[in-house]
Amino acid sequence: MNILAIESSCDETAAAVVKDGRTVLSNCVASQIEMHTIYGGVVPEIASRKHVEAITGLADQAIAQAGLSQDDLDAVAVTYAPGLIGAVLVGVNFAKGAAMALDLPLIPVHHVRGHIAANYLTHPDLEPPFVCLCVSGGTTAIVDVRSYTEMEVLGSTRDDAAGECFDKVARVLGIGYPGGAPMDRLSDGGDDGKYELPRAHVAGHELDMSFSGLKTASLNLIHNTQQKGEELDLPAFAASFGRAVSESLVPRIMAAARMRGYGKVAVAGGVAANRRIRADLQEACRRSGDKLFLPELKYCGDNAAMIGCQGFYEYQAGHLAGRDLNAYATRDISLG
Ligand code: KG4
Repeated sequence: MNILAIESSCDETAAAVVKDGRTVLSNCVASQIEMHTIYGGVVPEIASRKHVEAITGLADQAIAQAGLSQDDLDAVAVTYAPGLIGAVLVGVNFAKGAAMALDLPLIPVHHVRGHIAANYLTHPDLEPPFVCLCVSGGTTAIVDVRSYTEMEVLGSTRDDAAGECFDKVARVLGIGYPGGAPMDRLSDGGDDGKYELPRAHVAGHELDMSFSGLKTASLNLIHNTQQKGEELDLPAFAASFGRAVSESLVPRIMAAARMRGYGKVAVAGGVAANRRIRADLQEACRRSGDKLFLPELKYCGDNAAMIGCQGFYEYQAGHLAGRDLNAYATRDISLG
């Protein structure tokens, strides 16, 4: 089954063709990062307009690179939630048009379910159930993946997402947008114990997280250092910050792993590329005996191959959309 998959929930326009869920025939991504860098963050209206410009050509490119024609497609899958609403709408409308014109089924895919599915592309042997740490620019959640299409959020951030926190702090340091990867690189060789930064706990909800305190404490530390005319030890700061984020995430996904007892832990989303988090997860799983699944770096950030993969399993579960499919800025992952 060849699925044309479309993703446009934030600042990447993406189209892919995926065969039978796990074989990626093509994976095309047009990033808008350069455009948004001028503003230090994603400007929603610009993102929507850039999606409109890119999406048709990108879908054609994905079909051509797969070595197929439109007649070889069996379904169209699309991210319909969550994301910047104007951006998601572009993908949804395009996918609806394509499905109608080609008389194909239309499969709605939750973006975070797609991130989780990136693990299936990297690990052909991975099957649910497992627990997954989902960490991106918009989401930070611990998910019980009971089956390919049945999921429960066990814990989530009460405020900022981890990626958003990386991005805001990097912006104040002036090291680029999006800030996660530059912060990661900057931390090389830095002393991760030099700066004391908070790790939040939500009383009574041990798997919930909070990153706004870490963000505020980091921004205050940067400004106070500047005001005193002192120099911030950048590698040490980036290492201390990365450690604080990792120590907020890793113990909680490991607690979820203990609670569920599946013996399998996965991680998903853009922040899953972070080297400190990957290393800490490796060490934690080595100690606990859980098997760890890390997505390949090319599938950590937004892409359409992961949407085609998850779309295959949604299709098998009979989750199809009608011509009235709408887009949603927010939506619980358990609802599909
Ligand atoms: O999954 P993604 O591409 O988009 C969303 O669905 O949100 O995630 C983007 C986020 C950004 O916040 C970016 O700074 C962060 O992932 N990110 C990282 C790293 N690479 C990307 N954060 C920490 N360390 C990294 N190496």
